Amino acid sequence: MFRKLMQCSVFALLGVVGVLATYGWAISANKAASISDVMKASFGKGGFKAKITEASKNKNYDEVAKLGRDWVACVENLLKNKPPRGDEKEFHARAEKFLNLTREIVAAAEKGDGKAIAASLKGIGGLCGDCHKNHK
Ligand code: HEC
Repeated sequence: MFRKLMQCSVFALLGVVGVLATYGWAISANKAASISDVMKASFGKGGFKAKITEASKNKNYDEVAKLGRDWVACVENLLKNKPPRGDEKEFHARAEKFLNLTREIVAAAEKGDGKAIAASLKGIGGLCGDCHKNHK
């Protein structure tokens, strides 16, 4: 339960500042994290994408794999959400693409393949516009 709570939590990544950022979600911890929480934990300052980019640059692939596993669990929350706009099934299909790329990061990290990690991160960077245009 505690681990589940931490997976999507900016708190896990940021420390004290994050406590405030995730407080709203933490008090409703048995609900899925909201899309907004997933976005902030993924792409915010000190979020998964930034941390993984940094760890990969330092060739710290154990850390990338660890962060990657938490990112997968975090992104899975998207599948439990309805988008504010657009078709729910289409949103879930777009979320699956994102989820698969986070899974690829874990697989690449386990092989110590920095190039594949970078390629997956780039792939994720290419998903924002399409999903936001249709669902944000
Ligand atoms: C699968 C769909 C999807 C993908 C992929 C996606 N987003 Fe989002 N994002 C959303 C939706 C939907 C919202 C609006 C959430 C809301 O308002 O409830 C959002 C909101 C956001 C927010 C605002 C969060 C907040 O509430 O403060 C940021 C920042 C953001 N996205 C960044 C990104 C970046 C950067 C990428 C790509 C690297 C990305 N998103 C990829 C669906 C997506």
